[in-house]
Amino acid sequence: MNVPLLDLKAQYETIKTELEQAIHAVMESQHFILGPHVQRCEEAIAAYCHAPHAIGVSSGSDALLICLMAEGIGPGDEVITTPYTFFATVGAIARLGATPVFVDIDPVTYNLAVDQIADKITSRTKAIIPVHLYGQSADMQAVMDIASKHGLVVIEDAAQSIGARYDGRSSGTIGHYGCFSFFPSKNLGAAGDGGMVVTNDPKRAERLRILRAHGSHPKYYHRLVGGNFRLDALQGAIISAKLPHLDDWTEGRRSNARRYDRLFAESGLIVSDTRDWAQTRPDGEMLVRDRNVVLPTEVTERHVFNQYVIRVDRRDELKAHLQKNGIGTEVYYPVPMHVQECFKDLGYNRGDFPESEAAAEHTLALPIYPELSDEQAACVVHTIRAFFGQPD
Ligand SMILES: Cc1ncc(COP(=O)(O)O)c(C=O)c1O
Repeated sequence: MNVPLLDLKAQYETIKTELEQAIHAVMESQHFILGPHVQRCEEAIAAYCHAPHAIGVSSGSDALLICLMAEGIGPGDEVITTPYTFFATVGAIARLGATPVFVDIDPVTYNLAVDQIADKITSRTKAIIPVHLYGQSADMQAVMDIASKHGLVVIEDAAQSIGARYDGRSSGTIGHYGCFSFFPSKNLGAAGDGGMVVTNDPKRAERLRILRAHGSHPKYYHRLVGGNFRLDALQGAIISAKLPHLDDWTEGRRSNARRYDRLFAESGLIVSDTRDWAQTRPDGEMLVRDRNVVLPTEVTERHVFNQYVIRVDRRDELKAHLQKNGIGTEVYYPVPMHVQECFKDLGYNRGDFPESEAAAEHTLALPIYPELSDEQAACVVHTIRAFFGQPD
């Protein structure tokens, strides 16, 4: 049986007509950049998240960049974030000449270990970027408390967490800014690159709108240096057409996660979740035992499972075994940011962020897309069970 990591064609089949109509409308309008389709998309995302302002931009990466630009962050400034994330989070800080300052992750959620943030704050710290990794919110109350105590800006990297909630609020709407990505593999994916920033602050929203069009306001008059961070009308129209399905897709992902939890519990493997595992592991021992599969834990209100990530021993061998049996998986992220070559001047070393390094070494994302069938999920668990030598 073939089980891809993600099957975008399966989703496309179910909404083909709506997408064709959306694309057709843009073609008929011949209005390709910003304009009414992007505006409608912004209004729809703002309504979905209960955010007063949404600003369509060219990608999730540019969403992060433009928020930092809007705060005037640059050389000499420090921005606190996690080393266990996609490159874009940290790349945005470095591109502006500011200094990324890392805080290790919490092994239960893979998000910022909030109790370690305060130690990293200096007179140069300007912002914190919590990342809601894999679709689960970081501990935003703790982040906001520290930020307000020290007068810091909070930019939520919500690229993987659209629709997730924290304390009743939508992911991305708690900090000063929330950044979404519409990269095709995200829960709400475009047919190309796209992104969105949400904010509760009208002044910040206005600044973002100016910055995304080269800082031009009025046209051809520049008080700020911005860039071309505009969202295409085609992507805006596609996102608007897909948004009404997002909650169903999210429920599909969530029920697939519960099904995996059940199947693993019945598998005869030694199963724990990240919370049990973090509590019971011997001091300093971050490895997992052979045949132990550590499942993700839902700590906050609505994990949207952009990824369902397990933690295992012999991860790379397991990945190869699954691949050989037609099952797609992915390692997010094999090299934490503090040991990336391009950041070597920051002076970090291997060993500085042990939880991030252990996660990079032991985690594996399994197929979790909404259309995944019972048989496919059973096949994934069965194949993992066979790898660890569990008899049928
Ligand atoms: C955590 C995180 N941040 C930022 C990004 C950047 O988004 P994009 O690919 O739309 O530029 C992504 C996704 O790719 C991501 O997963």
